[in-house]
Order: sequence, then structure tokens, then C-alpha cells
Amino acid sequence: MNKTIRTTLRLSAATLAALGLVAGALWWGVYDVGADAPHTRPVYAVLEFARERSVAMRAMQLSVPALDDEARVRNGAGNYQAMCAGCHLAPGMAPTELSRGLYPAPPNLSARQVDAAAAFWTIKHGIKASGMPAWGASMGDEHIWDLVAFLRRLPALDAVQYRDLVARSGGHSHGGDDHHAAMPPDAAGQPSHPQGEHDAPAPPAADHHHEAAPPPSAEPAAPPRNREHGHAHGH
Ligand code: HEC
Repeated sequence: MNKTIRTTLRLSAATLAALGLVAGALWWGVYDVGADAPHTRPVYAVLEFARERSVAMRAMQLSVPALDDEARVRNGAGNYQAMCAGCHLAPGMAPTELSRGLYPAPPNLSARQVDAAAAFWTIKHGIKASGMPAWGASMGDEHIWDLVAFLRRLPALDAVQYRDLVARSGGHSHGGDDHHAAMPPDAAGQPSHPQGEHDAPAPPAADHHHEAAPPPSAEPAAPPRNREHGHAHGH
């Protein structure tokens, strides 16, 4: 009995000491959170395992619609170019500041086949503590499935086919049109999302020039933004 108590006390003391060490290391900032300092291998392995299981368990509950629909693939293409290619690249496209600088690195989705349900879940909810945003905040499910349909096609496309599909997609619909229309206007009677297309956190670099909103009077003959947005910037 006495012995059991002593062992228990010793174990508790050891546990406390270990926790103290960890707390001390955290306090002294031993772990480098810089995106240019990769995780140690064990930390990376644990995080990757946790992410994969978390997504897989949630994606299991989704029912995947038919994704070989050409209209879906086409709709997804314009949105992909506008909202995703800056991080996830596209056929014939050189790495960008974002694709190079983020850690964990955004996978090159033109070079990898994704699982449909897992991709849908990831696009809708994003991934914590990575650059991957939760697009479900601004995009309806149907438009997210369009993106998934496009992602399933993407690895098979070359640069010309990619650009062609983007050009035929009708541009960046953002999947929000129906969505935004349902939103109440704000006090000034403006749509509550006046810059519908400006909220993509990572347009490809070339888009900055496009979107550096010129004064409205500058170019009266400018085509509607939606259309120019859809053209591949082709790098
Ligand atoms: C700002 C950069 C950024 C943007 C923009 C972005 N993503 Fe991501 N995405 C990431 C990062 C980083 C990861 C990896 C996260 C991780 O490994 O924890 C990721 C992961 C993913 C994955 C999981 C891939 C896999 O096989 O593990 C999919 C699918 C995906 N993104 C699709 C999209 C789509 C579609 C869009 C556009 C609507 C998009 N992403 C926009 C950064 C981005």
C-alpha cells in the first residue's frame, strides 16, 4: 500500500516536471513559428495525420453529386483561375510568391488528383493555421462542387486547354451571385457586398493590376469586369 502511494507520488512529480519543461520551453519561445522554419519531422507527422483524419471523418458523411458534367467543370474553371491559382498554380504557371512563401505549402493542384469529398470539405471549411481559407463563408455548395468537378479535370489539362476552359467559363462568378442577392442591403441601400470580386484573398499576381480600381470615369468603354476576369492571365 505504502509502496503504491510512493510510486504514484513519484509518477505525478515526474509528470509535473515534464509539463513544467514543456511550459518553460513554450514560454521561452523555443518553438519557431516562422513559416520559413519547417516543422520538425515528428511535429509535421502528427499535424498531417490529424488533418487527414479530421477531413476524412467529416468528408465521409457527404454525398458526392455527378461531377463529370461539362457545365460544372466550366463554371469551376473561371473561379479556380480567379480565386485559387495564385496559391495552387495551374498548368504552365510558374510558382508565385504565395505558393512559395506559405507553410504548409499549398499543393500544386494541377499535378495531383484530389478526393472529391475531401476536396469539397476542405474548400468549404478551410484548414486552420494554414493559408487555406474557408470559402463556404461566401460560396454556395453547388459552386463548391463545380470547383471540385474542375479540380478532378485539372491534372489532365495542358496550359492551352486550361486557358481555353477558363476563357469559356464566363469568368469569375464567385459562386456568390445568387448568394449575394439574398443578402440584405446595408443602410445606404448598397448591396452589402459591393466589391464582390475583391474579397478573394489571393488573386494571381497579375490580377492586382486589373483590380487596382481605376476611377469609374477613366474608361467608359471598359467591358464588364466579370468578363475580363475570366481570361487566363497565362503565366
Ligand atoms: C492563400 C492561399 C490559398 C488559396 C487562395 C487557396 N488555397 Fe487551397 N490550400 C492552401 C494551403 C496552404 C493548403 C494546404 C493546407 C494544409 O496542408 O494544411 C490548401 C489545401 C487545399 C486542398 C487540399 C488538397 C490536398 O490534397 O490536401 C484543396 C482541395 C484546396 N486547397 C482547394 C482550393 C480551392 C478550390 C481554392 C480556391 C477556391 C483554394 N484552395 C484557394 C492555400 C490556399
